[in-house]
Amino acid sequence: MDNYVRIFDTTLRDGEQSPGATMTSAEKLEVARALAKLGVDVMEAGFPAASPDDLEAVRRIAVEVGNPTDGSRPPIICGLARASKNDIDKAWEAVQHAARPRIHTFLATSEIHMKYKLKMDREQVLDRVIQMVGYARSLCEDVEFSPEDAGRSDPEFLYLVLGEAIKAGATTLNIPDTVGYTTPDEFGALIEGIIKNTPGIENCIVSTHCHNDLGLATANTLAGIRAGARQAEVTINGIGERAGNTSLEEIVMALHTRRPVFNLATGIDTTQIMHVSKLVSNYTGIVVQPNKAIVGANAFAHEAGIHQDGMLKNQLTYEIMRPEMVGVTQSRLVLGKHSGRHAFKTRLSELGYPLNETDLDKAFERFKALADKKKTITDADLDALVADEFYQPSEVFVLDGLQVACGTMGMPTATVRLRGPDGATHIQAAIGTGPVDAAYKAIDAIVQAPSTLLEFAVHAVTEGIDALGEVTVRIEGTNGYHSLNAQKETERSRTFGGHGADTDIIVASAKAYLAALNKLLVVTGKYGSAETPATQGLTAWSRKE
Ligand code: KIV
Ligand code: ZN
Repeated sequence: MDNYVRIFDTTLRDGEQSPGATMTSAEKLEVARALAKLGVDVMEAGFPAASPDDLEAVRRIAVEVGNPTDGSRPPIICGLARASKNDIDKAWEAVQHAARPRIHTFLATSEIHMKYKLKMDREQVLDRVIQMVGYARSLCEDVEFSPEDAGRSDPEFLYLVLGEAIKAGATTLNIPDTVGYTTPDEFGALIEGIIKNTPGIENCIVSTHCHNDLGLATANTLAGIRAGARQAEVTINGIGERAGNTSLEEIVMALHTRRPVFNLATGIDTTQIMHVSKLVSNYTGIVVQPNKAIVGANAFAHEAGIHQDGMLKNQLTYEIMRPEMVGVTQSRLVLGKHSGRHAFKTRLSELGYPLNETDLDKAFERFKALADKKKTITDADLDALVADEFYQPSEVFVLDGLQVACGTMGMPTATVRLRGPDGATHIQAAIGTGPVDAAYKAIDAIVQAPSTLLEFAVHAVTEGIDALGEVTVRIEGTNGYHSLNAQKETERSRTFGGHGADTDIIVASAKAYLAALNKLLVVTGKYGSAETPATQGLTAWSRKE
């Protein structure tokens, strides 16, 4: 058994299935580029049978990310398919353009799934696996098979199904704990049993796929790896169905930091972790909890006096990883009002944002405006500023002006000026229960995309009264936009996240709401393509890298 753990990222498939994580095709492509730069071995780019848009998004990733022109080794681009000919054909249609394509097909093997979801008996399941893995293999050299809900399946039946899948041509056997039910001991033993008892497994890669319902996904994945799995299926920030999937950064940094314990390596460039984490958080609108391991805002903060004293004497007293290792830059005081364009550009490219000249002009203008209001600008401010300026969905409607009146006297009122997709200016005033409500009502009256606000959160990017406020919202279109969930075989209602940053939190709130509405309009096809000046800018700078 080799000592290399393949990192299979499923942020764009299982991650995108989480509530609010809907991304446009252009955003998915950006994330795919960032994942390739991070060094993932395999990326599951989506579930092509879900809709023509999903197929097209996977196809674009296969074409553009699956065929690097800089001589680097391409990542494997994988498409998910249920065990049906139609799904497998769609997955192949999308991924075949990649230099290294993979089809990932799955069928449930637990009694509860077979009886109630599939309405099939063991024999029928076994037969379908043989047929469909064989069919996938007739199209593609690289086939992964997953017995869904393996964590609750009878191990003896699993050995049989996996053995037949191998005979039919599967090259990777992925073992999902679909509902996050197992404990580390159990999951480790399951992998060990599979490796010991499945005929032909020595020529295949065994993989883990854990969900985090009991908060055990990372521990279970590590137990599976210790038992011999050499592929880990993970997502950035641990996003995914319900409580999420195993988080990429936790597995990679555990293997890296405790190398003497595991004696295993990955191909991940750990310094890219923070950048990709922010990208995914900004595009999905799913905020990373401050105490999240590795990528949370507090993961490297040493607040308590006793800790700070220890840190000053020797960093190793309280720090097991250097923040730079995961791309967290330590400098607090970065730039101020008198900093020039060159210093600004240099700092941005150190942070992983090598902007082209046009984007740099835009960002510098924002920086100067911010520096007028805020004495010192930190890395966190720069991250928020770039995210606000560039990591936005298609700007169908752009906020052009906002004025509010609020307080204890009179009715909270907002006047909003938006530039529409036709370039025309729209002005609307509204009253509400507060200034944010009034602004949202005014925006609704212009945009006319009925939606329900599901979540609204504000946080300060840095400390201090002059801090930038960052607002995240999640909305659901009331006219219903659905997409097919691969596992539940149901149509699910999609929700859309948006974020905005400004020293004025009402402005940040309006920007966040508009970003979510714009995404809803683009994804539901009301305003065509997701290729906007903002995302085109991003694409251009990523290509330069
Ligand atoms: O959780 C799961 O079982 C899955 C499979 C499709 C691999 O996501
Ligand atoms: Zn899953």
